[in-house]
This record gives sequence, C-alpha cells and structure tokens, in this order.
Amino acid sequence: MNHARCPAISVAGLSKSFGEQIVLDRIDLEVPQGSIFALLGPNGAGKTTTVQILSTLLRADSGEISVGGYDPGADPDGVRSVIGVTGQFSAVDELLTGRENLLLMGDLNHLPRSESLGLAEELLRRFDLADAADKVASAYSGGMTRRLDIAMTLVGDPRIIFLDEPTTGLDPRSRRVMWDIIRDLVAGGVTIFLTTQYLDEADQLADRIAVLHQGRLVAEGTADQLKRLVPGGYIRLDFTERADLESVARAFGGAAQVNGDLTLAIPSDGGVRAVREVLDRLDAVGIEPDGLSVHTPDLDDVFLALTGAPDQEIAR
Ligand SMILES: Nc1ncnc2c1ncn2[C@@H]1O[C@H](COP(=O)(O)OP(=O)(O)OP(=O)(O)O)[C@@H](O)[C@H]1O
Ligand SMILES: [Mg+2]
Repeated sequence: MNHARCPAISVAGLSKSFGEQIVLDRIDLEVPQGSIFALLGPNGAGKTTTVQILSTLLRADSGEISVGGYDPGADPDGVRSVIGVTGQFSAVDELLTGRENLLLMGDLNHLPRSESLGLAEELLRRFDLADAADKVASAYSGGMTRRLDIAMTLVGDPRIIFLDEPTTGLDPRSRRVMWDIIRDLVAGGVTIFLTTQYLDEADQLADRIAVLHQGRLVAEGTADQLKRLVPGGYIRLDFTERADLESVARAFGGAAQVNGDLTLAIPSDGGVRAVREVLDRLDAVGIEPDGLSVHTPDLDDVFLALTGAPDQEIAR
C-alpha cells in the first residue's frame, strides 16, 4: 500500500469511556506527515489515553483512526511497525546500563546483534550519553534518563513518534536539548505527536496545537491562530493615587479600562508607536504612573480562557 500522501495520523469521532466517565468525546484531528502536533490539556484531560489509543495500547470505544495508514483496532501490528512511543513514565530498565537498554530494544526489534551494537553506539553519541554508556541507568539524572528513553524509541526507526510529556520534570537547559532533539527528528522526516502541559513548549515546537478539555477538543490551530482567540494585548498602567488614575482615565476617554483599584489597561498591540502615544498622553496630563508594562496575549491566556471556565461553551 502506498501511504506516501495520507496524513500520518487521522482521527474522526474518537470516543473512550472508563465506566461512567467519558474521557474522550468524539475527538477529530489530523496530523500531516513530517509535522509536530501538540496535544495540550490539564491533568486528567485524556492526553495519555489518546496516546495509548493511537499507539495500540488501549482500544477506542468508537471512532475511525488511521496511524501511518493502519487502523490500530484492526491492524495493531501494522501500526506498531511504523511508530515509536515514549510514554509519560520511563521505559528505561534502571538495572541495565544505557548501552544494555539500547541493545535490549534492538533485540525486541529483531535486529542482528552487530547492527544493534553499531546503532547503540550512534544513539549514545547523538544523545550525549557516550560517557555514561556503561553506567547503570539508576545512576542517570532525570534529563539523561529521558534522553535514553527517546533514544530507545528510535531503535526501530519509527516514522511516527508519540512523546507523552517529554520534558516534564526537566530543567530549562535539558528541555531545550530535548526540543533540539525533537526538531532534528522532524527535519529527518519523522512525524511527532506530543502531549504537554507547557504552553511555551507547544508554542516553540508545534506546527499545530489542540487543546483538550473535559473530553472535547476546545480549540485547534497554529499557536498564532489560538492566540487570536483571546482578547488582544494591552498596556498596563499602575498608580498609587486613585485621583491620578481617574485623571489619566479621563485623558484616554473610553479607551482605558479600570482593572482593580489602581490599574488601568489600555488596549494596544504593544508596539513601540503605541507605547510612545501612551507616554505622550501621560506627559500631556503631567502624571507619571507608578509602573508601565506591555502585555501581549500568550498561549497561557488562551489555555486559561479555554480551560479555566468549565461551564463556558467555547465557539470552535
Ligand atoms: N485504565 C483506566 N481506568 C479508569 N480510569 C482511567 C484509566 N486511565 C485513565 N483513566 C481516567 O481517565 C482520565 C484521563 O486520564 P489521562 O491519563 O488520559 O489524562 P492526562 O491528560 O494524561 O493527565 P496527566 O496530565 O495527569 O498525565 C482521568 O480521569 C483518569 O483517571
Ligand atoms: Mg498523562
């Protein structure tokens, strides 16, 4: 079968319940080949459940799913032949060394030992683990364990890789190393489906982002498209005197919104020109605010707007 042109992953109407609890409620999504898709959601949103269904570890209740051109329900072996999975919790055997863990993966993938040895060497080098190759994994730091975990996923040379919270618990530097690894994989043509709770991670990496909340995808699009879902940026002015705030508010007419007791928000694109106009207007009334800050919407705003108000119906 020629799968060259179909999306790496497509999902229509995917539902999954555990007993009475509906965890996934008619999810639709599509991930083009060679792209990075980020599934965002708070704890318990169903991210791991989605990954487990797409990677054949769990069966969907209903829905049409294609991963690498195969249906996980009807042809799990087909799916397994093209995917790699790095789960939320490490698959590293702590009693084995880094090298032994990789060789074990080679055995599980039925690679001849000579090939496994060469591949293990290459992966240890590529993931900056060569010096630690012969140490038992229990002596690895969290970042090293996570790198080994992903290296092990690559042994089968998968075309589609699922990464369930690949950087949770890593320090900022290790997270950046992980991002570089992920970008390198995509540059090599691999498709990445990742879950994360870090909005900056999705912003940095993902071509498309979906936000999962209470069983539904409440938003889907590029980072920029999602940012446009929330109200625009503003310039925030802080005052110590209520009278000053009121004078400045009058000077801005209807444009300024009073936020709390001593803060004004002036809708703005946050550009240099807009800041200069605000400063000029302040000069004209002769009042210097206590503080001035520029606020542009980020994915955090989107996430909170979409997942913070459980009863609010979000337009899709
Ligand atoms: N095997 C199971 N049996 C019963 N309930 C389950 C099972 N697996 C998951 N759940 C429930 O399904 C919901 C979604 O869980 P899931 O692990 O997919 O969330 P998640 O988005 O990955 O969360 P986290 O960010 O904490 O990893 C949770 O309420 C969880 O308790
Ligand atoms: Mg999870």
